[in-house]
Amino acid sequence: MLLTLILLQGFSHALAANHGSHWTYKGPHGQVHWSDDHLDCGGQAQSPIDIQTKSVRHNPALPPIEPQGYRSPGDGAFTLLNNGHTVEMSLPPSMSLRGLPQTYVAVQLHFHWGSRGQAGGSEHQVNGETFPAEVGNVANPAYDNILDRLKNIQHAGQKISIPPFDIHELLPGQLGHYFRYNGSLTTPPCSQNVLWTVFRQRARISASQLERLQGGLYSTKVANSLPVPLVDNYRAPQLLNQRVVFSSFPVGPSAYSAGEIVAIVFGTLFGCLSIFLTIHFVVKRIRMKRIREQKDVVFKSSSRRAVSGNSHRP
Ligand SMILES: *[C@@H]1O[C@H](CO)[C@@H](O)[C@H](O)[C@H]1NC(C)=O
Repeated sequence: MLLTLILLQGFSHALAANHGSHWTYKGPHGQVHWSDDHLDCGGQAQSPIDIQTKSVRHNPALPPIEPQGYRSPGDGAFTLLNNGHTVEMSLPPSMSLRGLPQTYVAVQLHFHWGSRGQAGGSEHQVNGETFPAEVGNVANPAYDNILDRLKNIQHAGQKISIPPFDIHELLPGQLGHYFRYNGSLTTPPCSQNVLWTVFRQRARISASQLERLQGGLYSTKVANSLPVPLVDNYRAPQLLNQRVVFSSFPVGPSAYSAGEIVAIVFGTLFGCLSIFLTIHFVVKRIRMKRIREQKDVVFKSSSRRAVSGNSHRP
């Protein structure tokens, strides 16, 4: 889920460019082994998590997130880097976030994604649902500022300068609705000092934009004769343990997804229709039975009359 990362990890003061030990997402240095070299990765307050909305606590005092200086982030160029784990873009200190316990100064943004044709890609989940980034038919042109440059940083260690652009356009529209919890960096050293904000609304890009992200980069250096695609760079959800996830909005029936709402509406309609048809046919059968009985009565009485007529005849 693109926007999650931008927000929290991007602006936490706890950013750590880790040039220490070698780590990957799968294999002998994969995520299940991270805690061998980085103790915090085995801690009790790790990220990402699967947000279970039924256990979320609404805190109406949580204010909307207010990005400052995102629309025109100055004249200085941004640096776009393939660090072998993700594509990372440096951000200037003129950009900051309000609506948090302190003002957070922007440092960088980066992405996590899956691979072509596979489900998943987001780190955080909501009720067990993962997101490939929200994909539609409509491209989000703001993301092209980054995606158009990936061809220049295909290999690990490569970086380029790109002209500054409106970073606000990368974010979803509704910045007042979000989940909030205490967690960690989702990569080694997994430092547990990140205050996470996960927006309820997803950022939207098109399917072809997603494919450019999934197919454009390698996690290996240019000299490597066996290039490894940079895909599936997301960590599995971690245990919540004693932590509480708060929401800035009431997580009631409104927490249902559009698909669930459609299912509920159709389910209810179908249920009502079934009840209506059942009643309709039962009533119809009762009426038919009554009509048949009345006919029987008419028939019997007329036959009785006939009988009695006969009996009077002699
Ligand atoms: C995060 O942890 C701090 C320190 O324990 C606490 O004061 C704060 O309320 C926590 N925030 C959330 C969202 O749980």
